[in-house]
Amino acid sequence: MLSGKRILLIIGGGIAAYKSLDLIRRLRAQGAGVRCILTAGGAQFVTPLSVASLSGDKVYTELFDLMNEAEMGHIQLSRDADLLVVAPATADLMARMAHGLADDLATTALLATDKPVLIAPAMNVRMWGHPATRRNLATLRGDGVTVIGPNEGEMACGEYGPGRMAEPDEIVSAVTAMLAPTARPLSGLRALVTSGPTHEPIDPVRYIANRSSGKQGHAIAAALSALGAETVLVSGPVQEAPPSGVSVRKVETACDMLAACKDAGRFDIAVCAAAVADWRAETPASGKIKKRNDGSTPMLALAENPDILKTLSAANGMRPRLVVGFAAETSDVVKYAKEKRARKGCDWIVANDVSPETGIMGGDFNTVHLLTADGVEDWQPMSKIEVARCLARRIAEHFVKS
Ligand code: CTP
Repeated sequence: MLSGKRILLIIGGGIAAYKSLDLIRRLRAQGAGVRCILTAGGAQFVTPLSVASLSGDKVYTELFDLMNEAEMGHIQLSRDADLLVVAPATADLMARMAHGLADDLATTALLATDKPVLIAPAMNVRMWGHPATRRNLATLRGDGVTVIGPNEGEMACGEYGPGRMAEPDEIVSAVTAMLAPTARPLSGLRALVTSGPTHEPIDPVRYIANRSSGKQGHAIAAALSALGAETVLVSGPVQEAPPSGVSVRKVETACDMLAACKDAGRFDIAVCAAAVADWRAETPASGKIKKRNDGSTPMLALAENPDILKTLSAANGMRPRLVVGFAAETSDVVKYAKEKRARKGCDWIVANDVSPETGIMGGDFNTVHLLTADGVEDWQPMSKIEVARCLARRIAEHFVKS
């Protein structure tokens, strides 16, 4: 997707620099040429040799390296690229960028460029929250710099919060979106994605739920939107951040999810990635159910929930042109998925094995099989973000062909 594009990657001095090695690999796998500037701080964390080996190019480190200047001046270095990516962007590097300093090769290239700049901040949570960093961030945004992340999580220093550099996958998505604004094969199409679990109340404090994180569904919504689809994401309760550019409807129960899907209008594409609870409590108690003195346990009468995928697939006159379901199985994955595709009336099924030992439910990786009218495709294990991107590309191909 990035073939022919040239990225100038500036690797700052933070522990997240190790992820930039993976970023180089992923950018090149998408066809981009990657040239790197390694700051003095960055070189404390990764070696010029590993950067050079992965980028397949010379690594630029010193501003006053006459050899480099003879070969290529720092102005040309930044102008030669289609996009500058700073990853990790440390608090110090952000501050120097915000103030227009040019005291090393990285900051000089950043000041000399007339190309778009993407930064992936990474720093301690308190540094990220400090008013000085907030000011610098606002200045950089005002200067037109695009910011990806940071993500929330456990930090190398042991603290928890926002400050972890965005994952290489997320940075590649941002790079793709920045470099391919015209390559939006799904422009003009509307996509609906369901994601996450549903919560079915038993009483005001208890509910029936499942372990779905919403990661896969949210990534699919982001990927469809990145390819230009006007995307509505109907999501059960999840921790995932709403993908940018996507219209999100938050729901709790399966019935709410179906209602929100129906309310959202007509769609060309529907991807049902939600792990909808199959049953709900038939009559949720209006007050908290109390323990009984005689030791007897309450009986929970269940009612079956509406099947959203089946309903959308059967929608008379309103059926999306392509309906994609998921099949989460713990055995005989493809066999059950084939049956499910027929039973639900959808066009494609993305099937995966969610046995606890796979770590797929709630995890970041997925191994899927795509079932279409033409047969079964076994996809390589990949991150949920990559699965989302591949699926969005397949959907785009389908609409180009049809
Ligand atoms: N699905 C749905 N509404 C439901 C149940 C499932 O939209 N009430 C969708 C899911 O989003 C998924 C597909 O149907 O795309 C298959 O979900 P799954 O839980 O694997 O299938 P079930 O129909 O629940 O079958 P079973 O649990 O018996 O395997």
